[in-house]
Amino acid sequence: MGRAIAITSGKGGVGKSSVCINLGIVLAQLGYRVCLIDVDLGLKNLDVMLGLENRVIYDLRDVMEGICPLEKAILKDKRESNLYLLPACKSVNLRYFKGSDLKLVVEELKHTFDYILLDTPAGIESGFIHSIACVEDVILVTNLDITSVQDADRVIGILMKEQMKSIQLVVNRMNPRFIDKGISIRLEDALNWLSIDLLGYVFDDENVIRSNNKGMPLSLARNTTVYECFLAIAKRLLGERVPLPKYKEKKLLQKLFG
Ligand SMILES: Nc1ncnc2c1ncn2[C@@H]1O[C@H](COP(=O)(O)OP(=O)(O)OP(=O)(O)O)[C@@H](O)[C@H]1O
Ligand SMILES: [Mg+2]
Repeated sequence: MGRAIAITSGKGGVGKSSVCINLGIVLAQLGYRVCLIDVDLGLKNLDVMLGLENRVIYDLRDVMEGICPLEKAILKDKRESNLYLLPACKSVNLRYFKGSDLKLVVEELKHTFDYILLDTPAGIESGFIHSIACVEDVILVTNLDITSVQDADRVIGILMKEQMKSIQLVVNRMNPRFIDKGISIRLEDALNWLSIDLLGYVFDDENVIRSNNKGMPLSLARNTTVYECFLAIAKRLLGERVPLPKYKEKKLLQKLFG
């Protein structure tokens, strides 16, 4: 049976969808069958970030309403043969969105996939509540700014109230120069504040934005530090004790000429 994991955050825009896609790619590269579910209802992102938007015919809502069978709505990634996507509803009336239907979909997917990653909407609205009711594990994504960590702390409180046992932290867009200058808080301080296990971190890298915009997630290329970050995150998720990558400062010539 597969393992369902919600990728969530308190504050929006911290990198949930990027983490969901890149972690999914690396797990798929490691040989696991992975299905991503875009639960960001009405604000679909993952299909665009994977370059699959033109292939979407059916979506999560169609499956939940019984308009099409699950296997018809699932899209196969163009590059990673083990990676699949269940796209978000194009439009949704949240009043009619039933958490129990989402749970049924996730349970069905567990029969054919090793990992089901749910990209949840930011905050603590219904999309978040429905998602965490379907999973055994949560990956909480934060940046190292005060408001982002503060909101992550609030989400941890809610997850604990919901009896969620496994909550692991991914710090995204970590920029050691910002930490040195006091613009971002230190990783250790964030960990002391949140007091949950660190699954890993991902450095701030403008190539993530470029590749997201092109529908070509950065982890598809295996020669980047961001890929190494996601490889470490994936292996630690699988239970391996691997160290996290060190930051490589760009050399002056690289900085000047890109
Ligand atoms: N490690 C990174 N380095 C640089 N930019 C990043 C990184 N991770 C994500 N981004 C950029 O940050 C922005 C927000 O990322 P993303 O859409 O993944 O966040 P999100 O938490 O899913 O947002 P939302 O709450 O709106 O769903 C995007 O422009 C993305 O390309
Ligand atoms: Mg998102």
